[in-house]
Amino acid sequence: MTPMFEVVSNEILAENLHKMVLVAPRIARARKAGQFVMVRLAQGEERIPLTIGDADPEAGTITLFIQAIGASTRKIVDTPVGGSIRDVAGPLGKETHITNWGRVACVGGGVGTAVLFPLVKALAEAGNEITTIIGGRSSRYVILAEELGALSKNLLITTEDGSLGSKGFVTGPLGEMIADPARAPKAVFAVGPVPMMKAVANMTREPGIETIVSLNPIMIDGTGMCGGCRVQVGSETKFACVDGPEFDAHLVDFDGLSDRLTSYRKEEAQRHAATDC
Ligand code: NAD
Ligand code: FES
Repeated sequence: MTPMFEVVSNEILAENLHKMVLVAPRIARARKAGQFVMVRLAQGEERIPLTIGDADPEAGTITLFIQAIGASTRKIVDTPVGGSIRDVAGPLGKETHITNWGRVACVGGGVGTAVLFPLVKALAEAGNEITTIIGGRSSRYVILAEELGALSKNLLITTEDGSLGSKGFVTGPLGEMIADPARAPKAVFAVGPVPMMKAVANMTREPGIETIVSLNPIMIDGTGMCGGCRVQVGSETKFACVDGPEFDAHLVDFDGLSDRLTSYRKEEAQRHAATDC
């Protein structure tokens, strides 16, 4: 019989953002920070790549943070506790290179903060002194503040409307850190919208601060076969699903990534319109 993956909890963290815990003992034992799974709710449904947010090898469970933005992700988050997901394939992708840099800045924009969480956890376990900067459009979109605060030496929050923390983008506090020799990080991890990751890369390039970004290009098979997730990194074409999803931010072609991410917008909108009515 095909194994199914039981949902043991399903919590709403923010608008359209769910934290789902699934029974997946083999993945819980094998996964490393930075890796992801391909999830398919049922036969014939779309495969969705989702970062493994956390895992409990003893309980045999993994945690996924799922943003319900399309028809398929909405169906996944509608699965109730006690229900099950047909396919959860993984762990996929390369694990994060973790070392003790000393002072590290971890920057999460909006939903990207969920992808940042396992990296912060692994960096904290390696003994890094972490300043985590997270931000969203307003307080409603700031997620995992308590969890990240517990792992970080400093937690800085920004919102674009000033409803929580300081007003502005996450790059504001990062710029202040970089400009202060007593606080400048040795390494920066950034996950969020492409313009945010591009802005972070531009800020750290000149001072030569090692900067890692986690990319989320379109993925289809997640196994390096389809080429859907290709991204230009320096002079090389890489596949985010097998070569990433993390890359040296100073080498990533963010404009090319942005173009590829928006190339199917029309078809997605048509599909949503067809499935929403
Ligand atoms: P958003 O547009 O609300 O932005 C969240 C925060 O990112 C902003 O509040 C700001 O602090 C920062 N930011 C955005 N644009 C910036 C810029 N030009 N310069 C500096 N900082 C900037 O984000 P959202 O709606 O929560 O997230 C949606 C986006 O995140 C989608 O584009 C999605 O593809 C991307 N995303 C990426 C990953 C990943 O792994 N890289 C994971 C999940 C989502
Ligand atoms: Fe197909 Fe990466 S998703 S090659």
